[in-house]
Amino acid sequence: MTPPELEVPLLRIDAVTKRFGGFVALDDVSVDIRPGERFGLIGPNGSGKTTLINCISGAMHAEVGTVVFRGEDITQLPAHIRTRRGIARSFQIPRPFKSMTVAENLMVALDFAAIGDDFVVAAQRRDTVMSILTQTGLAAKADLSTTGLSQVELRKMELARAMATHPKLLISDEAMAGLSSSEVDEVLDLLIKLASQGITIIMIEHIMQAVMRFSQRRQDHRDRRAGRGHGQPAGAGGLPWHLASPSMTLMRVTAP
Ligand SMILES: Nc1ncnc2c1ncn2[C@@H]1O[C@H](COP(=O)(O)OP(=O)(O)OP(=O)(O)O)[C@@H](O)[C@H]1O
Ligand SMILES: [Mg+2]
Repeated sequence: MTPPELEVPLLRIDAVTKRFGGFVALDDVSVDIRPGERFGLIGPNGSGKTTLINCISGAMHAEVGTVVFRGEDITQLPAHIRTRRGIARSFQIPRPFKSMTVAENLMVALDFAAIGDDFVVAAQRRDTVMSILTQTGLAAKADLSTTGLSQVELRKMELARAMATHPKLLISDEAMAGLSSSEVDEVLDLLIKLASQGITIIMIEHIMQAVMRFSQRRQDHRDRRAGRGHGQPAGAGGLPWHLASPSMTLMRVTAP
């Protein structure tokens, strides 16, 4: 077996900086995600976790630094092309098309990721969508309006929509926030199941118990400017520091 440090990363974030006007949301952030791993990203509110996802998925573009996916520099690619390359994300606040059924919401995602001849006939689309809804525990809700879904069902639908694009990398942005502990377990089980099918997953979460159970590797994403914590000195506690930027963003990676 190849030692983890020698594996070609599925995703390489290299020295990414993102500014909003004069405000630096991401400062020189670097991280590698290995193929097939379950990676947990934690950090206080406003530390830039969602911004990092946006720079990975193409919703935003990094001003400095590169994003490389499966060996290809995707830093300047638009979001829909990145989706077709195999990057999918769920949104922190579910944003379903409310006038559509659950199945129709997934069909939109299916078409978004389709390339040329990949556009499939209606019956096949329905089969694909139903198989994803079955996998995510939402089959019984397929033909219902999304307005009738509970919070946990909405979160699952967010993940199901991401799955409809057939991702190699799935990024889950706080899919468990505000859920009860049994609902957290449901979403966690679902993410672990998807990972067991070979999908690499980055999970962003504030619920530490969930992060600890899910992730094989974790990264602490902190913003020193806001005085929200300075982390520990490099190498403290025997933990390898992946990145300790001299300026604003601190990241620590703990090995499995
Ligand atoms: N489009 C934007 N325009 C201006 N500032 C932004 C924008 N998006 C994010 N920010 C700012 O960048 C910083 C990082 O925000 P981000 O949403 O990435 O944090 P986060 O770690 O995901 O926080 P949370 O845990 O609350 O979701 C925050 O100060 C936020 O206000
Ligand atoms: Mg966020």
